[in-house]
Amino acid sequence: MIEVQVELGDRSYPVLVGARARDRLMEYIPPSAKQVAVVTQQNLDFAIDTGTPVKTFYIGDGEVAKTMSTVEALCREFARMNLNRKDCIVAVGGGLVTDLAGFAAAIYHRGIPVIHIATTLLAQVDAAIGGKTGVNLPEGKNLAGAFWQPLAVLCDTETLQTLSPREYLSGTGEVAKYHFLGSRAGMPDVDLRDLPLDERVAYCAELKARIVAADEREGRLRMILNYGHTLAHAIEIGTSFDLRHGECVAIGLNFAAELAKSMGRISAERVAEHRKVLDFYGLPHALPPETDLDALMPLMHRDKKAMGSLTFILDGPDGVEVVDDVDPKLVRAVLEVVKS
Ligand SMILES: NC(=O)c1ccc[n+]([C@@H]2O[C@H](COP(=O)([O-])OP(=O)(O)OC[C@H]3O[C@@H](n4cnc5c(N)ncnc54)[C@H](O)[C@@H]3O)[C@@H](O)[C@H]2O)c1
Ligand SMILES: [Zn+2]
Repeated sequence: MIEVQVELGDRSYPVLVGARARDRLMEYIPPSAKQVAVVTQQNLDFAIDTGTPVKTFYIGDGEVAKTMSTVEALCREFARMNLNRKDCIVAVGGGLVTDLAGFAAAIYHRGIPVIHIATTLLAQVDAAIGGKTGVNLPEGKNLAGAFWQPLAVLCDTETLQTLSPREYLSGTGEVAKYHFLGSRAGMPDVDLRDLPLDERVAYCAELKARIVAADEREGRLRMILNYGHTLAHAIEIGTSFDLRHGECVAIGLNFAAELAKSMGRISAERVAEHRKVLDFYGLPHALPPETDLDALMPLMHRDKKAMGSLTFILDGPDGVEVVDDVDPKLVRAVLEVVKS
């Protein structure tokens, strides 16, 4: 088992990565807990042992379930079982479950402990770590939420065996992102492609942990975790291509590399390195030919991380960083390149 620490003072917590990490759950349930509320999904059948009486609640599937009303329903169930601040919530699932259960934990009784058992690759390398929780509003994704750090994150890599190839690939899109963020987080210079799965997941978890520790509330550094995401979010919102989040991130990474090159920030070799990483994982790098570029442009403006002007996370001589005021004409031209 590999253990990574998220250093946040008295709210620090471990991320355990490895097969059967969920078997370590009992170590992290607070001794004060008299009962535990498990939040998961019907299709997930991962036996866990909490050592205390348990009630299990199932949430729906897909982004449509990620709503205030699901959180309200959960909180009402918690109230009916008399769950209190000495007790604990355990989320078992992907990013949908950890975001929802985490948000419910943040607001129920003004905050009760939560432990995440992450069962998708995306949740293990990204969503379950770092304390961002939330729900969608009809006006947009993840618009309401709270920062609420868990007591522990258990990344049970054995659970990934049942993940569909498509969901696995989606998580891989985030893994690809981490290939280019290591220097900004002071990570050792290793090629993630050479690592076995558990070590690769742990590397990504540690990189995220370091960035969260340095900038918990996304002042600026944490924004680099959105590398590839400005275009990715626009593709997700603006199209019905049925691409998963990580696939959109992959296209977004290739686009960000091309944009950085056209701004003289990186070399053609560095762009090629981006594409080699995407190819290694079998990820897409081109926009589908039917993409309406004119429709994508305003969606990138509207990205909530863009703060008014066109802002991108771009590679450069000092590594990946936030770059404001990027020329929209250049962006449009580079989109043409990435479409072909
Ligand atoms: N909080 C953050 O920092 C953060 C970061 C990235 C993404 N997110 C959020 O994460 C969500 C996406 O998470 P996701 O990609 O894990 O999707 P998901 O949680 O919706 O899971 C995808 C599908 O896989 C199934 N599944 C989960 N684990 C499984 C397993 N082990 N075997 C078989 N099937 C399994 C789920 O039931 C679901 O159908 C989005 O809502 C996104 O906004 C949050
Ligand atoms: Zn992402």
